[in-house]
Amino acid sequence: MAELSGKRLVLGVTGGIAAYKAAELARLLVKAGAEVHAVLTASGAQFVTPVTFQALTGNPAWSDQWDARMPNNMAHIDLSRGADAIVVAPASADFLAKLAHGLADDLLSTLCLARDCPLIVAPAMNRQMWENPATQRNKSRLAQDGVILLGPAAGEQACGESGLGRMLEAAEILETLAGFFQPKVLAGRRVMLTAGPTFEALDAVRGLTNLSSGKMGFALARATRDAGAQVTLVSGPVAQPTPPGVERVDVTSAREMHAAVMQRVAQCDIFIGVAAVADYRPAEPAGDKIKKDDKPLQVTFAPNPDILAEVAARPQPPFCVGFAAESRDLEKYAEGKRQKKKLALVVGNLVQDGLGGDTNAVVLLDDQGRHQLGPAPKIDIARAIVAHIGRMLEGKEN
Ligand code: C5P
Repeated sequence: MAELSGKRLVLGVTGGIAAYKAAELARLLVKAGAEVHAVLTASGAQFVTPVTFQALTGNPAWSDQWDARMPNNMAHIDLSRGADAIVVAPASADFLAKLAHGLADDLLSTLCLARDCPLIVAPAMNRQMWENPATQRNKSRLAQDGVILLGPAAGEQACGESGLGRMLEAAEILETLAGFFQPKVLAGRRVMLTAGPTFEALDAVRGLTNLSSGKMGFALARATRDAGAQVTLVSGPVAQPTPPGVERVDVTSAREMHAAVMQRVAQCDIFIGVAAVADYRPAEPAGDKIKKDDKPLQVTFAPNPDILAEVAARPQPPFCVGFAAESRDLEKYAEGKRQKKKLALVVGNLVQDGLGGDTNAVVLLDDQGRHQLGPAPKIDIARAIVAHIGRMLEGKEN
């Protein structure tokens, strides 16, 4: 299911060059399943026309407070009623000032004042405007009033300067919104996850690793964060961006991952081992690069610690979830692992279904039996796993 299916959003666009990104945001919101109604301020409409938003959202775009298209001529009421949120992106310095003072002199500011839904704003402005004490005061006032501020980010600005004030990218805003609407089934829980592969050194430049991309572990980090948990992600070497709000600990080898997990495990309520941890490492890695020779190279491997099994065997273990990636006999092996490692839940997948890709199909195995999920995008699978964990923790498993 698309991440924003069934959500009705008002997208406010105010006057700033970042308004061009709002068109992309409108496209992404619609693609994620949301019903989007764009409302532009007069200056916003100078940068991108209402026609662009009408074409992208499939709904009329609004900018004039006196627009007679609404049958009762009360666009400021009708647009915000029934909305799940108003998202203003970009939000200019002027618009933040208006919101902070409750001004209502155009359609967008009036409907923000008349709202009965959450208001989320993504500020975008020159860095001096952002740093100005007046803007900072307005920002704090808005936060106190319960308005949710996303960003701004630091970086290059359209004016040629560099600093804080860039609007978040459309994809980042979409991700935050999708998270915002998730049920908070793990509120107050502390989650630790492992993700990605490990790399076991053979010499100064070579080593053994595996094909794990880290995508499933990072999707679960997002999903647990979005469910209200405080999340620590211990990750092997991967090319995945850290989900905002998640504490990330980078490690390379299985032994480093083991140490990072054991150092923190007493502070977690839920442990999810998604990492494809190498079972063995070269017993005596060479300090220098091994030179080529005609003779066969003999390498002795030493077993690595089983992180998940050790966490599950603690006297007061967290709720433990394991992963089992198999190339055949999935359920037999996955259930075997669950029994052997004494796990509450195992998520099994065939490597041919999930490795490296953006989608996955999995089977959940717990005391109640089996539950099939997917094929679906990994973030959807992750959210369904989190919902299942939430039900198990509440003792309401179906
Ligand atoms: O025993 P196997 O490696 O197949 O079990 C897979 C599960 O155990 C995964 O959840 C993986 O993250 C975890 N694991 C671990 N430490 C290891 C090996 C696997 O935490 N050394």
